[in-house]
Amino acid sequence: MSYGLLKGKRGIIFGALNEMSIAWKVAEQAVAEGAIITLSNTPMAVRMGEVNALSEKLNAPVIAADATSVADLENVFAKSQELLGGKIDFVLHSIGMSMNVRKKREYDDLDYDMFHKTLDISALSFHKMLQVAKKMDAIAEGGSVIALSYIAAQRVLFGYNDMADAKSLLESITRSFGYIYGRERGIRINTISQSPTMTTAGSGVGVMGNLMDFSERVSPLGNAKADECANYCIVMFSDLTRKVTMQNLFHDGGFSSMAMSESAMTQYLQSFEK
Ligand SMILES: NC(=O)c1ccc[n+]([C@@H]2O[C@H](COP(=O)([O-])OP(=O)(O)OC[C@H]3O[C@@H](n4cnc5c(N)ncnc54)[C@H](O)[C@@H]3O)[C@@H](O)[C@H]2O)c1
Repeated sequence: MSYGLLKGKRGIIFGALNEMSIAWKVAEQAVAEGAIITLSNTPMAVRMGEVNALSEKLNAPVIAADATSVADLENVFAKSQELLGGKIDFVLHSIGMSMNVRKKREYDDLDYDMFHKTLDISALSFHKMLQVAKKMDAIAEGGSVIALSYIAAQRVLFGYNDMADAKSLLESITRSFGYIYGRERGIRINTISQSPTMTTAGSGVGVMGNLMDFSERVSPLGNAKADECANYCIVMFSDLTRKVTMQNLFHDGGFSSMAMSESAMTQYLQSFEK
């Protein structure tokens, strides 16, 4: 069902790789809610991935960019304003990658070049995006910027590795830049902390299946799905949330407020039975 929440708004969606991607669902819903958008992903993802099919379906131009490159980001904001016909109203940062996770390096045996890359791709890219947009004055007054985070920023979840540090940094950038962009241009910046979700990035975390199963059982509402995350992004892009900024918003079926559930307790006690 469409409510026209983004009617007349212009947006940039970073990170749609395939149909499982959270960004893919956000792009589809943003257009269904009346927005016009551009899509961006790495040159490699654009060549190899399915983003061109999404582009055709949504009539949304693709602008390739490595989100760690300031020049590439400048190009995305310049071209998007040109193609969409004005300043940008909303931006989604849906980007994450850790070579340490991919190569199964443990947290006490990290490769530091890979660690730098994790932080650059998954967190600094958000600062770069915001700094570029602000310098170019590319986001309209009242605009809304969202990045996607995970609860491993606050709590230790075994196996999430250096991505936990990247998410902590991402959330900190959200607060620090949110203050400046809010004060100077009335622009909102928030993170949505999403349940574990089976996507390409998600399945790269070796223990993801176990984390998903655990949080599904512990959360009173169960895990939030990718399309439900997209719903929340749309509300945050809309004019209904004009005074929400610098927040980390949990979208996790209640997981972040739980410690021990009845079923987890039962399971725990059973593990001691002979
Ligand atoms: N899947 C989960 O369980 C989960 C949970 C919470 C938060 N998140 C976050 O959601 C976001 C989206 O991930 P997803 O789960 O949809 O997976 P995904 O693999 O579909 O998306 C990750 C995207 O990052 C892009 N990317 C990687 N390096 C890049 C670079 N240098 N420049 C530009 N783009 C680059 C990839 O091409 C891909 O499109 C990530 O920030 C992820 O950490 C995911």
